[in-house]
Order: sequence, then structure tokens, then C-alpha cells
Amino acid sequence: MITNPLRDPRDRRLPRVPEPCALVVFGITGDLARKKLLPAVYDLANRGLLPTNFALLGFARRDWGDQDFAELAREAARKAARTPWREEVWERLAGSVRFVQGSFDDDNAFDELAATLGELEGSHGIGGNAAFYLSIPPAMFPVVLKQMQRTGMAESTPDRWRRVVVEKPFGTDLASSRALNELVDSVFTAEDVFRIDHYLGKETVQNLMALRFANTLFEPVWNGHHVDSVQITMAEDVGIGGRAQFYEQTGAARDVLQNHLLQLLALTAMEEPVEFSAEEIRTEKLKVLRAVSLPEDLPTFAVRGQYEQGWLAGQRATGYRQEEGVDPHSTTETYAAVRLGVETRRWAGVPFYLRTGKRLPRRVTEIALVFKRAPHLPFADTDTEELGNNQLVIRVQPDEGMTLKFGSKVPGSVMEVRDVAMDFLYGEQFTEASPEAYERLLLDVLLGDATLFPRNAEVEASWAVIDPLEEFWAGTTPQPYRAGEWGPRAADEMLAAEGRRWRRP
Ligand code: BG6
Repeated sequence: MITNPLRDPRDRRLPRVPEPCALVVFGITGDLARKKLLPAVYDLANRGLLPTNFALLGFARRDWGDQDFAELAREAARKAARTPWREEVWERLAGSVRFVQGSFDDDNAFDELAATLGELEGSHGIGGNAAFYLSIPPAMFPVVLKQMQRTGMAESTPDRWRRVVVEKPFGTDLASSRALNELVDSVFTAEDVFRIDHYLGKETVQNLMALRFANTLFEPVWNGHHVDSVQITMAEDVGIGGRAQFYEQTGAARDVLQNHLLQLLALTAMEEPVEFSAEEIRTEKLKVLRAVSLPEDLPTFAVRGQYEQGWLAGQRATGYRQEEGVDPHSTTETYAAVRLGVETRRWAGVPFYLRTGKRLPRRVTEIALVFKRAPHLPFADTDTEELGNNQLVIRVQPDEGMTLKFGSKVPGSVMEVRDVAMDFLYGEQFTEASPEAYERLLLDVLLGDATLFPRNAEVEASWAVIDPLEEFWAGTTPQPYRAGEWGPRAADEMLAAEGRRWRRP
């Protein structure tokens, strides 16, 4: 029987549009809301991916009316939208923008929020469905969640869904993340909780699964028989911006190693899921995270650093301790590198080197599989002096794509083998631009698709990796590195101790 693909509900090529609903954002005046969420809402509307019956609600302390909020939202969206600006798209959205003023401990304000949602059901046909985005410090979660519980706003019923979106960091260690997870789970049902790790919304990160599980080429060599080591790098050229208060408490390991880098590791190392569904993918990732091991020799294989004044792209960059709002004696790390193991049959014995840092020479995130050298080379040593290990590099950003590095004969009458690179670039192969991570993730929240959101057990398994590191680092001073350099010397020594070198992306 020939089925019409347009009728097949499993056909994922069709644009998916959520049911009528509202998006409620707490912390609407914050950086994330202005730079990412509001532009993402506009981009989704512009792409026709929001339902016709949609409302956007902001909740904040400012003494504002709907109009003021609509104006802020418009400006934020205009400034950072990915897709071209079309006034008529915004005009349509603006008609259903609402603002509720109040503080988080203000019962009246939450009653008003509940009432506004009720009104929008009648006036804008949102069907009672709502997603609550907590773009607020985790310390504020308890009071906001309690308010939602008190007003009955958190309750999904057969006729309507209510979902909550929480941003990382989910806690500061295993114990606090457990407490936070328990709290969220006591107010919302587990399937209505969406924990955002925006790296999972990045196109190349999703492509990692396509690359591995849709091809035959890579899987046979994707294991410790062929792979010598894996390097996962998330380098940023920026400093901490205006986030000193947050960063001082957090540091690189809690900020991004615990979440973005460990999620990249999980996707790289996981087994094939039974199917491409939230449940199965999360299950496979969790198995990897539980199998992660820390090195016994932490002093050699766990390095943290802090940037000092230096030069970046011809500009003088201040040191971390001189940044506004940072303690001049701060011991917070802005760089972290660690050698992890994955204790499974596929990966036993293969080191996974993870590193991240601020004020490094350039912004680049990549996953590199470094392959073993050929067991035998029928050449003279001098012929292959310039031959390195074969590498498969998945570039998450920028210049999204993939590079395969292998040896090739240098043209000419002499025999010389040198590394060459074969590149696949998204920008060259596809005409469609990749959506922003937040665009994709917001859409998935409204659709109720949890595939790209880590489950609480994954978050906890990741803290179980980070806790011993933090304990080891507590009371120590991070190693200095100059802004514009690839991290502290100890990070190079860490790889040199095993006869390896970091890639210079
Ligand atoms: C965030 C971190 O999660 O990711 C920031 O809190 C970091 O410190 C940011 O700068 C990087 O995101 P992206 O998408 O620009 O790589």
C-alpha cells in the first residue's frame, strides 16, 4: 500500500505547529529573555511556527502596562532576531502580549496572572495551555513554584497542558540539584518539566546523532579499537561580560562542564537508541553519564585556570580579577580541563579530554575523535614525519560542519605523506540557515517534545562527576593563563603526560 507521507503523523519533515497556547516568561527584563527568548518567539512567528491562538505574558516587578512590555519585547526581538524583520508579524503578536506586575512573594500578582490566563482563554482561544519559563535565579524557584501550585496554575488536566521550563544551572552540586528536582517534580508532573541545555538545541549537536546512526561509515570505527582519544573543546573568546555576580559563585566547571560538555560527551559515546524518541535517547545518554569515571591522579588530570590580563584580537583584555564585580583575590576558575573515562565495552581505556575556557584565542566548540596510528607503515620514517593521527572533527560552532583529517601523498617525484583535510560545511551544503538553539527548544516545549531536554537523572549523574572535582579544587588557586592563550600550561602538561597534545582548532 502506498501511504501519503503528508498524512503520516510520524513524518518529521512536516513543520510542526503547537496547539493554541500561552508562553509565560518570569524574568522578562533579564539578559536571556531579551537576547534569546523574545527574539526566538519572533523568529518562530515569522516562520509560521506559532499557533494562530498564541499569547505572550511577561511577569516582572517593573511598574509597567502591556504596552511597555510589548515595546521592550519588540525592541529586543528587532535587535536580535535571526530572520528578517517584518512589522506585520510583530503587529500580529503584539495584540496578544500581556504584562503582569508584581514580585514573586506577591499573592495578588499571581492571582492576577492566573486570571489573565483565564481571560486569554476566552479572548484569544489559547485553550488553557501554558508554558512557564523560569528565566530567574534558581534561588527564586521555590517561591515561584509554590505560587503556581497555590493558584492551581501548574496543573495539567486532560483538557489542557501546563509545562515548566527551567534553565541551567540546576543546582550547584548533587545535593542541591536533587532538592531542586524534587521541588520541581512536586509541583509539575515529570513529563511537563523541560530542563534547558541550549547546546542540545544546536543543529550540529543534533547532527551528531544523524552522523552516527544514519550512516555505516563511522560506526565500525567509533570505539576503543580504533579511537585513541576524544577531545571535546568549548572555547570562548569573551570574558564574563556583566555576569560577575553569577560567575563568581559558579566558575567554568559548574557553568558549562557539568552540562554542555558532559551532554556532548554523552551524545558522542552513547549506544544507538532503540528509536529516536525522548525516552530512548535520554536512557542511552544516562547510561553513559553513569559510566563516566574520574582519573585517580586528579592533580595531573584535572586542571583549572583563571585568565590574567592579555591581548585578544589586537585588543587589551583585562584579567578576571580586575573585572567589575569580581573579588580581586577570587579563586573562581574561568578555565577547566579534565580527563574522563567511559567505563563501557566500547570506550574502556579511551581518554575523553574535556576543556572549556573564557578569553581563549577564539570561539570554537568541537568534538574531535583522534584515531590510533596505523599499526604498521610501509614507508621510511622520513616519508611520514608530517603525518599525524587521523581525526574526525565535528565543529559545533562556528562554521558548523565536519572535517576529516588523513594522510595523503604530497604531489611530486618524492615520497612524502602529509595530513590533509576534507571539509563538510553546513553553509555550503544547505541553503536553509540553522535555527537558533532557543528557537528550536522553545518550539519543542510548546509541542511537548522532550527529546532535546535532559532528564533529572542525567543532571544528577553529571553532578556526580563534578562534585569530586569541585571538592578537589576547593581551597586551591587556579593556574593563571594570559587572555588570548589556550589556557594554563598545566593543561598542556596533562596531555603531554600521556604523549598527546591538544588540538589547536
Ligand atoms: C552558557 C554559559 O550556558 O553558555 C555562558 O552560562 C556561555 O557562560 C554560554 O558563555 C555559551 O553559549 P554559546 O551558545 O554562545 O556557545
